[in-house]
Amino acid sequence: MTILTASRGKFITLEGIDGAGKSTHLSWLENLLRRQGKRVIVTREPGGTPLGETLRQLLLDRGQVIHPETEALLMFAARREHLDKLILPALDRGDWVISDRFTDASFAYQSGGRGLPSRKLNVLEHWVLGKFQPDLTLYFDVTVELGKQRTSAIKAADRFEKEPEEFFRRVRDAYLERVRIFPGRMRLIDANKPLEEVQKSLHDVVISYCDA
Ligand SMILES: Nc1ncnc2c1ncn2[C@@H]1O[C@H](COP(=O)(O)OP(=O)(O)OP(=O)(O)O)[C@@H](O)[C@H]1O
Ligand SMILES: [Mg+2]
Repeated sequence: MTILTASRGKFITLEGIDGAGKSTHLSWLENLLRRQGKRVIVTREPGGTPLGETLRQLLLDRGQVIHPETEALLMFAARREHLDKLILPALDRGDWVISDRFTDASFAYQSGGRGLPSRKLNVLEHWVLGKFQPDLTLYFDVTVELGKQRTSAIKAADRFEKEPEEFFRRVRDAYLERVRIFPGRMRLIDANKPLEEVQKSLHDVVISYCDA
């Protein structure tokens, strides 16, 4: 008897500062992958599980004053749950998982933005993820000014979005540094361009990844 086992799915993460276009491109990417015949699960961080979504509410609540280390620990606590309850089971079933943010965001926001030493985040990353990494990370690069213009037009600022521009400059620099360090896994997409052009770049990166 032949036992058919589904091949493991792929884990794709979308990163970028607020207003870079992650959520917009996530639905577009989901449709693109479905057209390629993949089963796709869409999720986000912090969040993705009931506990993670509760932590998200606390983390984004502008009324909360949270120590940067507590913030990092809560992000990784939510991530541990996310990995166990959603990401790994889906990949094992052969589904593709797309997450709106993942661990690169912790390095960008809690280290770059808040100033925590990255060695502390390395410890948490190793503890929570072991050797697990996204298969592909799409980093949407946008200037701080343009990102701010795009988000302030659509919603009230959350606990991160109310930070000054200088904070987002450090976050962007930290993302750019990670793209430099991990050129294989992370791909930079210029998100300053009009939507159709960004989608064209996204399409080319993803199709070449799927064909490889
Ligand atoms: N390349 C683009 N050109 C013009 N408008 C864009 C572009 N990309 C995104 N937008 C618009 O900018 C706004 C913010 O985009 P989106 O919500 O996808 O960003 P985001 O990265 O998910 O932000 P956040 O981190 O705050 O969730 C949306 O109204 C979206 O339609
Ligand atoms: Mg979004």
